[in-house]
Amino acid sequence: MQLKSVEWPIQAANWRDFSQLNQLERACFPPEDLWPFWDLIAALTLPGLVRLKAVVDGQMVGFVGGERDVNRRLGWVTTLGVLHPYRRQGIALALLAQCEQDLAMPAIQLSVRASNQAAIDLYKQCGYTVVRLWEKYYVGGEDALVLEKRR
Ligand SMILES: CC(C)(COP(=O)(O)OP(=O)(O)OC[C@H]1O[C@@H](n2cnc3c(N)ncnc32)[C@H](O)[C@@H]1OP(=O)(O)O)[C@@H](O)C(=O)NCCC(=O)NCCS
Repeated sequence: MQLKSVEWPIQAANWRDFSQLNQLERACFPPEDLWPFWDLIAALTLPGLVRLKAVVDGQMVGFVGGERDVNRRLGWVTTLGVLHPYRRQGIALALLAQCEQDLAMPAIQLSVRASNQAAIDLYKQCGYTVVRLWEKYYVGGEDALVLEKRR
């Protein structure tokens, strides 16, 4: 199902979003890439993290998480996902831009499966370049590309 441009305000997420984030992650990622329960809780509760959701009719349709290493002046995008019916409308672009702004670090990095061309295209469009390759990083043995954006 492809929806025509709907309103999707971006809001701060919190622990009350656990159930919807859990569902969104399961819809967006293969089982081997799902975060364990406590990582989801941490993403929604630990201080200092960025957690943003795109919302349509009270439902989370997209989510981005970010954290920062202040000593290294480095931000890290930890997860980004958009539900299928809401894709190709710019929601990931908007979530990522807000996450980068909230992280407020001179450099931001993330990792992505080397085969995830949709995400790689998205990140390159946003100014990220490949800076590293982590061999066999993911479950199943796939390499990770580490991408970086300097601001
Ligand atoms: C990757 C993902 C977050 C993109 O979400 P989205 O809201 O559809 O992305 P956007 O609409 O903001 O797309 C912005 C640009 O990214 C690129 N892009 C996004 N999806 C793409 C696809 N399936 N194929 C090719 N390019 C794609 C395009 O350049 C697109 O611009 P365009 O639509 O004008 O061509 C979404 O497909 C998703 O949730 N995938 C599964 C989870 C995942 O892989 N997350 C990233 C892990 S690192």
